Amino acid sequence: MEIKIFANAQEASKQAFNIFKEQLESGAEVFGLATGSTPEALYALLADSDLDFSNAVSVNLDEYVGLDNDHPQSYHYFMHDHLFQFKPFKQTFVPDGANLDADSAIKAYDEILVTYPRDVQLLGLGPNGHIGFDEPGTDFDATMLKVSLTESTIEANKRFFDDVKDVPTEAYTMGPKAIMDAKTVVLMAFGKGKAEAVKSMIEGPVTEASPASILQNHANAIILIDEDAASLLSEQTKTAAK
Ligand code: F6R
Repeated sequence: MEIKIFANAQEASKQAFNIFKEQLESGAEVFGLATGSTPEALYALLADSDLDFSNAVSVNLDEYVGLDNDHPQSYHYFMHDHLFQFKPFKQTFVPDGANLDADSAIKAYDEILVTYPRDVQLLGLGPNGHIGFDEPGTDFDATMLKVSLTESTIEANKRFFDDVKDVPTEAYTMGPKAIMDAKTVVLMAFGKGKAEAVKSMIEGPVTEASPASILQNHANAIILIDEDAASLLSEQTKTAAK
């Protein structure tokens, strides 16, 4: 893992932007994208830039089950709102949360993952160590799966909904194996609420109990964090990161 610690989320997002720019300029064609608060600053930088993604393909990590694609809290909507309306891609893929037939939704997306191998995969990090919606305990060998969200993830996501009862309880997500298949992985995590998860990811054992820890086994994993998210790391890790 290559770990970089920044004064704040904006500085880390600028570094993520530079990685996307370099990837695009060196011929990357397929970008794995994430939603949530963490990539918002990166998407704003991309939206304002003169980078041209019109020959690139995007493949998103996950989507809630049971929300129509035009629901304001769906990840389809999020991606349109934050990025695609400003920066059109040749093709964009997000798991089809409106398809309640899990077998067919998973099979369709597994085929997309095979057809469009990702050059780079962007990730955020859940406070419980999840990546995508791969909650603690998810089988490291899974490619695409339907998951039940944990109470803590539902709690963390309720801020986007009028009522906690409106937060979907299930999602389709790329599994750890599919995330690991990307040539380069860029994970961002900001704030004290992520500090425990960052510590487990970097310094803990590689275990399904801490899904992000699998990235220790990735040949090109770049971890961009702010000082708050880095606050529980050992001095040794912090010194090596700077
Ligand atoms: C989003 C995703 C999640 C989030 C994570 C952090 O597509 O897959 O793993 O990256 O829950 O969410 P935020 O960025 O809102 O703190």
